[in-house]
Amino acid sequence: MLKKKVEDICNRQVEREGYSFNLYLAMASWAENNGLAGVADWLYAQAEEEKLHMLKFVRYINERGGKAIIPAFKKPPTDFKNVEEMFKEVLKHENFVTSSINEIVALTLGEKDFNTHNFLQWFVLEQVEEEKSAQAILDKLRLGGKSNLYQFDRDIMSLRTPAANAQSAQ
Ligand code: FEO
Repeated sequence: MLKKKVEDICNRQVEREGYSFNLYLAMASWAENNGLAGVADWLYAQAEEEKLHMLKFVRYINERGGKAIIPAFKKPPTDFKNVEEMFKEVLKHENFVTSSINEIVALTLGEKDFNTHNFLQWFVLEQVEEEKSAQAILDKLRLGGKSNLYQFDRDIMSLRTPAANAQSAQ
């Protein structure tokens, strides 16, 4: 049985992962409307991963005797200045999600909830991948992608790791 404090912070994470899904979906839609089909594919795949993250929390809370709450989500932005600024937002958002996961890890240690602590290890590793992936895209943009958006857009899907591709195909 989950302690109330752990249940509440896991429900907070349901909202944050769900917002991540909406945010990347909004970014994908913006990219698609701006002729960036490759960038849109990357973001749609990323959004699918976030949906999966949200579901993992929902199912875990329920399986451990808690009650998962499906919240209303804040409306994500609909416009972005340019591709680089958008990916800076992706990295900033992933940094935020990493701190959020770390807060849950810290709470579970304090509460001696080792089952939830164990459940969270997948997310700890996942956040390393997600930050790395956003950073790799920003590096590519700085290395010339900005001045050749056609090529950047054509190649961006090759920056996804096989593990990420397997996840979003689930
Ligand atoms: Fe589910 Fe991108 O963090």
